Formats: sequence, structure tokens, C-alpha cells
Amino acid sequence: MTFTTPLQRLARLALSTLLLLLVGVGLLTAQPSTALAAEASSPVDSAGLSKAIVAMEQLNQMRISLASTLEGRTEEPTIETMKEVCKPVGMRAIAIGKENGWQVRQVASKYRNPDHAPANDQERQVIDLFTRHPDIKGLWEPAMAEQGAGLNYYRRINVEPSCLACHGTKASRPAFIKDNYPDDKAFNLAVGELRGMYAVHLPEVQAALAAAAG
Ligand code: HEC
Repeated sequence: MTFTTPLQRLARLALSTLLLLLVGVGLLTAQPSTALAAEASSPVDSAGLSKAIVAMEQLNQMRISLASTLEGRTEEPTIETMKEVCKPVGMRAIAIGKENGWQVRQVASKYRNPDHAPANDQERQVIDLFTRHPDIKGLWEPAMAEQGAGLNYYRRINVEPSCLACHGTKASRPAFIKDNYPDDKAFNLAVGELRGMYAVHLPEVQAALAAAAG
């Protein structure tokens, strides 16, 4: 994928928006005709597309709920409760991938866990796009050549007030983070800023089914 001209970029965005709209309409009305129309023009079935969107919304909600349990506490959170926010989200992301035959990653340029550094040009370009356009929440891209066939879905992750307990200033990070993440870059973040994104690779439907079955 290359973002060569603004026009191409616009066309690509329009296409992603259209696809999202199609899926959205399918989700809201559950009309078989809409679902079939999307299926005919896509290498991945439309049910898979909407499932990926819903799964990432749920995953994001899981983190927000876990982080909010730390807010307004009177007692000092224990190390164990502190650890129960983003690590389980990462484990759930991997599990969602296994259950569906997708690959699900969290990606951030200012990463805490080095496994979440951008892995290819497309991920870097989409992070750049999300950074420059805070109004874009999610988009689809064709899979990179090295991934084989299929589609990639990206969904933005923003910094919220409840995140600052662990992604605020460098000095205020809990001790378990300072100790366990020596190369941490995920601090000094401001509310509303891009924290990162979920990246879902949906291979061709046959391959996805085979992976889910195995
Ligand atoms: C209790 C501390 C804590 C809170 C609160 C917290 N995080 Fe994290 N966050 C972490 C830790 C620890 C990791 C590294 C987890 C790992 O090793 O996979 C992390 C990793 C992440 C990642 C994965 C990318 C990376 O940098 O490794 C994202 C995305 C993220 N956090 C977003 C958020 C958002 C958004 C919020 C608020 C809704 C939030 N975090 C609240 C501790 C926290």
C-alpha cells in the first residue's frame, strides 16, 4: 500500500467508509440482501467483516471497563489489580484471533510492550493517518503481499482519563511498569491523543475456516 497522491488517499478513504457503511447497514438491519451484496465484491464474507468490527468494539470496551475500575478508588490499588488492565486485553486479542482464524494485534508507535511496535509499512502508514485525522475511527485495507490474500481492519485507540494512571507522566508510572518495561515509550500521553490501534488480519474465508477448525 502506498499513499502516493492525496486523490488516491481520498479514494481509498471513500472506499473504506463505503465498506464500513455497508457492514454497518448490514449490522443494523440484518437484511440478507445487503449482506449478499457486500459478499459478492469481497474476498472475505461480510459476516466476517462485521464480526471483526464488533469484536474490536468489545475488546476496546473491555479495556475501558477494566481501567475504570481503578478510578475513584479510596484504597491504594494492589499490584495485582494494577496488572489487570492491558495485559488481559492483549491476551484476549490473541484469543479472538485464534477463535476466528484471524490475526489480532495491538500496535503503537509509542509502545510499552515491544511486541506491539509497528511491524510493516501499512501499519506505520495507518498509525500516521489516525494521528493526522482524529475523526477516522476505523478503516479497511487490502492485506500486504507478505500476508497473502485477505483484508486488514484497523481500529483506533484513544487515550482516556482513566489511562493516565499508567500512561501519564514517566515518573508517575506504577513500579511494576518501570521494572518490567525498561524500553517503555507509552507515557507522557494526553487525553484524546492516539494511543495505538487494533490490527486484524482476515485471510480468505476458506483459510480462516480451516484455521478456526484446526
Ligand atoms: C494499570 C495500568 C494501566 C492502565 C490503567 C492502562 N494501561 Fe495500557 N498498558 C499497561 C501495561 C502494563 C501495558 C503493557 C501490556 C503488555 O505487556 O502487553 C499496556 C499496554 C497498552 C497497549 C498496547 C500497546 C503497547 O504499548 O504495548 C495499549 C493500546 C494500551 N495499553 C492502551 C491503554 C488505554 C487506552 C488505557 C485506558 C483506557 C490504558 N492502556 C490503561 C498498563 C495500563
